[in-house]
Amino acid sequence: MAKHTVVLMPGDGIGNQVLPEAIRVLDAVGFEADYVHADIGWECWVNEGNALPERTIELLRRHKVGLFGAITSKPKKAAEVELSPALQGKGYQYFSPIVSMRQIFKLDVCMRPCLSFPGNPLNFIRKKPRGGFEEPKIDVVVFRQNTEGLYAGVEWSNPPARVREALSTHAKFKPFDNIPGEDLAISVRIVTRPAARRIAEAAFQHARQFGYKSVTICEKPNVLRETSGLMEEVAKEVQKRYPEIPLWSTNIDAQTMWLTKNPEDYGVIVASNLFGDVISDAFAGLVGGLGFAASGNIGAEVAVFEPTHGSAPKYAELDPPIVNPIAMILSAAMMLDHIGERDKAENIRNAIAAVVAEGKVRTYDMLRIAGGAKSLTMGAASTTQMTDAIITKLGVGVETALAGTGGRAGL
Ligand code: NAI
Ligand code: MG
Repeated sequence: MAKHTVVLMPGDGIGNQVLPEAIRVLDAVGFEADYVHADIGWECWVNEGNALPERTIELLRRHKVGLFGAITSKPKKAAEVELSPALQGKGYQYFSPIVSMRQIFKLDVCMRPCLSFPGNPLNFIRKKPRGGFEEPKIDVVVFRQNTEGLYAGVEWSNPPARVREALSTHAKFKPFDNIPGEDLAISVRIVTRPAARRIAEAAFQHARQFGYKSVTICEKPNVLRETSGLMEEVAKEVQKRYPEIPLWSTNIDAQTMWLTKNPEDYGVIVASNLFGDVISDAFAGLVGGLGFAASGNIGAEVAVFEPTHGSAPKYAELDPPIVNPIAMILSAAMMLDHIGERDKAENIRNAIAAVVAEGKVRTYDMLRIAGGAKSLTMGAASTTQMTDAIITKLGVGVETALAGTGGRAGL
């Protein structure tokens, strides 16, 4: 039996195309694991009334590590219509399996690396003051609190009387006291000290382990004095145990402005749920977007790694597939980091860097052409061709990978 067992949840649409590609790369890099398939997503909802079946939860509970492709989700009405006739009218309700997974396993640390691979035509470029352009080298890892904040789900339209009563005890609620219930919607922003501590601790640990020079807490404590205030306070406390790593503090609004001004100055960024969601997408946009955006959902016991893109239904039926497998392959590399196989993870990242730098094999998104069967005749590589190219570059090492691109230390 192999040392590791990994739960594979391809899910829907292109999840089924990119996850097998990541496994091919894991095999090629010499990672020995047993893989178990687990059902998740739309088919499960349609046939069982539950997009995250108990058997999948059980497999994750047992094996602790999962790779997840993507799922399809649809609005409430569409979900009800597609539920199999035998299950209709029996009170089944659609819940996002990803959100459920995060809640069930308390996957409270969301980690999203945003790394620019030199030579990627999708990388952000900036005008130089005296003419010409420059391409800042971006290597940011966003740590987003994954279970609380404004996404905790504590919200009401037309809040019940007891909630209104409680809110009325706050002086700042006065202007809203007379608003009719049907004109009032409230979402509660919740931050707890233990969760804030865990995300800050994860951020500093990562900065130390991977040699990042700073951790930035990206909040808004001057306005959200309580919740952002607590996030910042805890980050300062945690920093004391990492004296070699300075803590910077930015406000989310200013941070999005600085994003394109000096993205290369940031290392690890830590934020509460909504702000982390925003800032990680914003940074991902600078380094190639959905085809390159990997993530990890990490709890104390269980961790699940996934590309941030969805199931892209419009490309799911194409044969051969055309979507970029890099986000999924980078997610698999994150899984290797997580379970202590960092050399193999680096090997994969270097191979991706080599393929991107060489520029011969590019999926349609990297060529900025429309996706579709036609994109292959326009010079785009297929999903499997991209994976093949990556596999041939395994073992090249970072210097070779980046030769001719200006290089980069600590890729
Ligand atoms: P999406 O991420 O599936 O696709 C948006 C567009 O981005 C695609 O049409 C395609 O042009 C591009 N794209 C996505 N992945 C790509 C890849 N690997 N390579 C190249 N191009 C890629 O988002 P969309 O269309 O908003 O949602 C489709 C379905 O996916 C919905 O049902 C949605 O609910 C679900 N979804 C699931 C997520 C997850 O499983 N984590 C995340 C986001 C959406
Ligand atoms: Mg998002």
